Amino acid sequence: MAQLDAILAHIDSELEGSLERLFQLLRIKSISADSAYADDCRAAARWCADTLSAMGIEAAVRDTIGLPMVVGHYRGAGESAPHVLFYGHYDVQPVDPLELWTRDPFDPAIVEVDGEKRILARGAADDKGQLMTFFEAARAWLNVEGRLPVNLTVLLEGEEESSSPSMVPFLTENADELKADVALVCDTNMWDRRTPAVATMLRGLVYDEVIVEAASHDLHSGLYGSAARNPIHVLADILSGLHDSDGRITIPGFYDGVAEPTAEQRALWQALDFDSAAFLGDVGLSIPAGEAGYSVLEHIWARPTAEVNGVVGGYAGEGAKTVIPAEASAKVSFRLVGEQDPDRVRDGFRNFVKDRLPGDCRVRFIDHGGDRAISQPSDGPWIRTAQQALSDEWGCEAALIGMGGSIPIVTQFKHMLGMDSLLIGFGHADDRVHSPNEKYNLDSYHRGTRSWARVLAALGA
Ligand code: BES
Ligand code: MN
Repeated sequence: MAQLDAILAHIDSELEGSLERLFQLLRIKSISADSAYADDCRAAARWCADTLSAMGIEAAVRDTIGLPMVVGHYRGAGESAPHVLFYGHYDVQPVDPLELWTRDPFDPAIVEVDGEKRILARGAADDKGQLMTFFEAARAWLNVEGRLPVNLTVLLEGEEESSSPSMVPFLTENADELKADVALVCDTNMWDRRTPAVATMLRGLVYDEVIVEAASHDLHSGLYGSAARNPIHVLADILSGLHDSDGRITIPGFYDGVAEPTAEQRALWQALDFDSAAFLGDVGLSIPAGEAGYSVLEHIWARPTAEVNGVVGGYAGEGAKTVIPAEASAKVSFRLVGEQDPDRVRDGFRNFVKDRLPGDCRVRFIDHGGDRAISQPSDGPWIRTAQQALSDEWGCEAALIGMGGSIPIVTQFKHMLGMDSLLIGFGHADDRVHSPNEKYNLDSYHRGTRSWARVLAALGA
């Protein structure tokens, strides 16, 4: 197809300009979890809306109860062309611990490691680099052909990394405007360096904060030690009881709705020939820690989790301070699979804590959101079309994979708009998303852009 070849050649020759645009976005400190960066988040939304509008995709920053969305529309492909919705998020995770970064997280650069060029910055992979692969593919289509082969709605959010509190109200209010034939989401990984992938499963998430209080104020640990209840001990004891010695989660009813992987899934995943030793070895580990009886791939794709994400309590400054603190707290999250119900998981956890709380202690909880897992059929027409386009770009068959992470909106698209999502991304397991020194391979960026140009062509054909 001469037309597609010209678009791909345009992407190749314009790579430098494309990177400059990506770097502009990466320089904006759009950390959604920290309200000190709310203006930066708005600046990132404005940058995205302006960039889309300048390309010919009329876009606006849209206020919500929280951080704004960006919504854009393109209707130039004609009545009979399919209508797709592209979703991405312009917010990023906090950067701490800052001292572990080899450079300023908001001063992007290309660095060469092991013969591989990498874009280093917070958000390089999650999700600014990924969303820009789609923007730049659309730009190439519009520059070369003067049109897109599909009608397009763009929806970008700025609270994905903070459980998307504004998403449900926004989708409810704008359902008619946002509904399309299928959603395209660029926020997931490839199978490996050479093999592209379409993800068909995402885990859900419940996030809760628990605060245990005992004495009315911090106490001298000599004056009160052994007479006064220590809330750190209480909390540590409860948290350590979340798993039994086989790694199974002990909350009553927790596994309701969790199904074993089917024989078909097991066979498919077996055929992927996953190197679990390398997967763990890359992060300095060697022994799978989850429930006995499951492979590492089953652990991350098909099993639920209970993880303590942070514990706070008592004195953690320099030197020694003898104190029994008045309170201790923990952030605890659960990855969900199958039909697990977020509300029941949250209730189960809270009851588990309350049942183990000794006298003289009080407990409070803060709800940080929750969403169900999502699983989509792997043989739909959209998936097959996209799979072929990806295979054409990468020269090998695109894998159908699960993903252990969560993208809450995909569940909402399905339940609120009745819309399936095509989960196509070009990240790698070693991108250090949410960590210091986040990176996105230049190859992911460049060939990711080329991939979307091909997917758009295939969807429009
Ligand atoms: N892009 C990630 C999800 C992801 C991670 C996909 C790794 C593929 C590989 C997404 O932005 C993310 O981190 N989501 C959060 C959601 C939460 C804050 C509601 C997550 O999974 O922790
Ligand atoms: Mn993301």
